[in-house]
Amino acid sequence: MTVPPSTGGAIIGAMRDLLGDALARSLRYLASAQSRRVSPAPEDVQRLAELGGPLPEGPTNPAQTLALLDDIGSPATVINAGGRFFGFVNGGSLPAAVAADWLASAWDQNAGLVACSPTAAALEEIAIRWIGDLLRLPPGTGGSLVTGASMANFCGLAAARHALLGRQGWNVERDGLFGAPPISVIVGEEVHVSLLKALSLLGFGAERVLRVPCDRQGRMQAAKLPTLSGSSIVCIQAGNVNTGAIDPARAICEAARAKDAWVHVDGAFGLWAAAAPQRAHLAEGVELAQSWATDAHKWLNVPYDCGIVLVRELAHLEAAMSTSASYLAQGVQRNPFRLTPEMSRRARSLPLWAALRSLGRRGVAEMIERCCAHAARFADGLRAAGYTVLNDVVLNQVLVSFGDADTTNAVIAAIQQEGTCWCGGTVWQGHTAMRISVSSWATTDAEVDKSLAAMLRIAAGVTAPRSPRP
Ligand SMILES: Cc1ncc(COP(=O)(O)O)c(C=O)c1O
Repeated sequence: MTVPPSTGGAIIGAMRDLLGDALARSLRYLASAQSRRVSPAPEDVQRLAELGGPLPEGPTNPAQTLALLDDIGSPATVINAGGRFFGFVNGGSLPAAVAADWLASAWDQNAGLVACSPTAAALEEIAIRWIGDLLRLPPGTGGSLVTGASMANFCGLAAARHALLGRQGWNVERDGLFGAPPISVIVGEEVHVSLLKALSLLGFGAERVLRVPCDRQGRMQAAKLPTLSGSSIVCIQAGNVNTGAIDPARAICEAARAKDAWVHVDGAFGLWAAAAPQRAHLAEGVELAQSWATDAHKWLNVPYDCGIVLVRELAHLEAAMSTSASYLAQGVQRNPFRLTPEMSRRARSLPLWAALRSLGRRGVAEMIERCCAHAARFADGLRAAGYTVLNDVVLNQVLVSFGDADTTNAVIAAIQQEGTCWCGGTVWQGHTAMRISVSSWATTDAEVDKSLAAMLRIAAGVTAPRSPRP
């Protein structure tokens, strides 16, 4: 691709060649993503030290700076963009979203205020409306964009804290929590750590919670909920990070509704089941909750970082987050900074909007279904080879045991070292397992087959009976 001739401006003069070079380097990187090992070689990681040394005393050439970054930095990256990274719950980045993200940097918008970026603010509102619609949430659901599901959990729970204490005449934003009426927080035994962190940041205490027993898939058992009241926050999960299981939302939300309790859904990735007609039944009932946290950088395949907090009544989020100062007064319009912990922030709405618009409703559903089908293909292949799949593969997560803990850990280490694909480990209800999370639009049947073949070859080598030492 050619860069248009310079218009003579100083900014264009400084950026033209540099951005052209960045484009060429990006394309080279992406083209190599299919063939490179997924985890970087140790010697490449060691070379990162070359990016350090003392801070240069004066300016250095930007083109050389970019070249150094790419030459040393790129070989030490994890190839998340190639479709064979199955660790954690990492999505890829859709083409339209990557391109829009570039524009976000070139435009350098401060998305915190409408005055600083009408475009970013408008796209944020549109994207949130589209997501509410896709996830089948109640009409009128509002929200905002944050760094990820951790922060979205924080914001949803801050809205809950505001609402529940406000009902009792306590203004928590003004008066804090010392002396406040008690709030009880209920979580499942398999709650994600990020939710506990949010609780600790909010002053609820990560351990001052009631834990509800879960079933063998990690779903909260609705029948074992404690007595609820208008001072209870029930935190449910749509998508257990190990199994992908979704809590029985309808039963829990109906029990909560009867007592006027607040339900918050940590749906970092699993909430997207609602956007795929064949999986939507798994998330049935989540729409009855009061707040939801999800990610776009996971299953929607938007570049890092992009999380979304959604609330049934936006006023609670706004009350929990807003600050004011005369220089910030912007009238009554929706101003993004009034809905998040940060003030200035990146225009995440651009890649988010572009991902949604480029996929459309059907494209989102197909991407979700495709990842689930890939997960099932992994599970079938592993079972057929005699390994134990520990979870019901209902979504995009697979847990496999290759034998005892030492053997499974040895297989995971060997897979990571070999480099065809990357999977992490976990301990699921006492069993050491390898996690396979299929969350990238770029994963194809061929990537699955290639990765599965590598897993089976490596596992056979590790688990084969060793000959006795002489
Ligand atoms: C269920 C759940 N909640 C929250 C998070 C945290 O998400 P983030 O890393 O985007 O903050 C994760 C991450 O995997 C998750 O699986």
